[in-house]
Amino acid sequence: MLIRIGNIAEHVGESVKLGVWLYNKRSSGKIQFLQLRDGTGFIQGVLVKSQVAPEVWEHANQLTQESSLYVQGTVRRDERAPSGYELDVEDIEIIQIADEYPIALKKHGVDFLMDHRHLWIRSPRQRAILKIRAEIIRAVQDWLDGQGFTLVDPPILTPSACEGTTTLFSTKYFDEDAYLTQSGQLYMEAAAMALGRVYSFGPTFRAEKSKTRRHLIEFWMIEPEMAFTEHEESLRIQEELVSHVVQHVLKACQSELQAIDRDTAPLERVKPPFPRITYDEAVELLNREGMSFEWGEDFGAPHETKIAESFDKPVFITHYPAKVKAFYMKPDPDRPEVVLCADLIAPEGYGEIIGGSQRIDDPELLRQRFVEHRLPRDAYEWYLDLRRYGTVPHSGFGLGLERTVAWICGLDHVRETIPFPRMLNRLYP
Ligand code: 4AD
Ligand code: MG
Repeated sequence: MLIRIGNIAEHVGESVKLGVWLYNKRSSGKIQFLQLRDGTGFIQGVLVKSQVAPEVWEHANQLTQESSLYVQGTVRRDERAPSGYELDVEDIEIIQIADEYPIALKKHGVDFLMDHRHLWIRSPRQRAILKIRAEIIRAVQDWLDGQGFTLVDPPILTPSACEGTTTLFSTKYFDEDAYLTQSGQLYMEAAAMALGRVYSFGPTFRAEKSKTRRHLIEFWMIEPEMAFTEHEESLRIQEELVSHVVQHVLKACQSELQAIDRDTAPLERVKPPFPRITYDEAVELLNREGMSFEWGEDFGAPHETKIAESFDKPVFITHYPAKVKAFYMKPDPDRPEVVLCADLIAPEGYGEIIGGSQRIDDPELLRQRFVEHRLPRDAYEWYLDLRRYGTVPHSGFGLGLERTVAWICGLDHVRETIPFPRMLNRLYP
């Protein structure tokens, strides 16, 4: 039976067989050091010429980078090894000698790496990021499941827009026009009226012409929606959720965080409560800091970064002007020109990771918004039904997975946060 490197600690002193790829190789003439990987980890295999059969030595000689093989060897504890273990190789069975591997163990340009994304993900750094991504997803779901949220899957093909009509991907749905979903929110509102507290986790699509380090065309969102829940309670849930995720990753992904050189000190501080400032206060802060900014505009990435610099935890910016936000957000009853919403801005310049709000529950006001936003009523008739048949105060939010991964991993660009990024001008591989 094959053993995996991730479980190697359970087999010290035993002779085991592994299925591996050769990541790198060094030789001193009498000893060969094979860096082996199997997806679950890395281990160094050591061959001493005088101690193995000549054909085993010869097999090792033939191995090129990314060749696939079965290796038999005895596991030895070694304090100096990065993984803590080494393998004294006894036998090698070659599966394939790989062609010359395009990704050499040196620096490559980003375009080259993106063209070879299908191979690039094998590198230790990319592997660590994808492991952390999976662990973030697990932590989000564990926490929400534990709080009594039910997972509900909204559709991907939709007849209408959720987040504005400018970034819609359209397609034909037989004779009708359809769009790839920008957000599952509207359907999650329906689900919350059926199940109380719900969340979705799925891909969303935005035909954004922005070529920034925070924008993807296809990205994944976690969208909780809660019946009988006002804005303030939603913020508490958001800060609890985000803190849980960060603290879980710090515990569960120590070796991966190390592999990508993440300074974990700023992450240790991510515990509730998070600071809150209103949009008005944020505008004041920007002007005080010398960035002239007018009330009524939306913040861009440089503004968010500047605001975040004043805080050492994620910060909520609340009460944006209604006119820069989506049609469904509930106005503040004391000040209807602003809405009961919040963006959660990550520290260290990672920008908005959550957008959320209390939703309009009044049918008349919602109808009015459809007119103001020139939205086709017939495509949303079902959504109006939710306010007709037992409307209740409800709130929800969307956590962008890739921006969260970029922040927690400390990455320059979201392209490394998802296995196969879809970006402006990038659909391959
Ligand atoms: O702020 P957004 O647009 O909010 C919504 O879509 C709401 N309907 C969510 C809800 O209330 N259920 O998007 C939510 C989050 C952003 O904070 C950001 O993290 C991420 O989704 N996001 C993107 N991530 C990568 N690339 C893009 N183009 C993104 N657009 C939004
Ligand atoms: Mg937003």
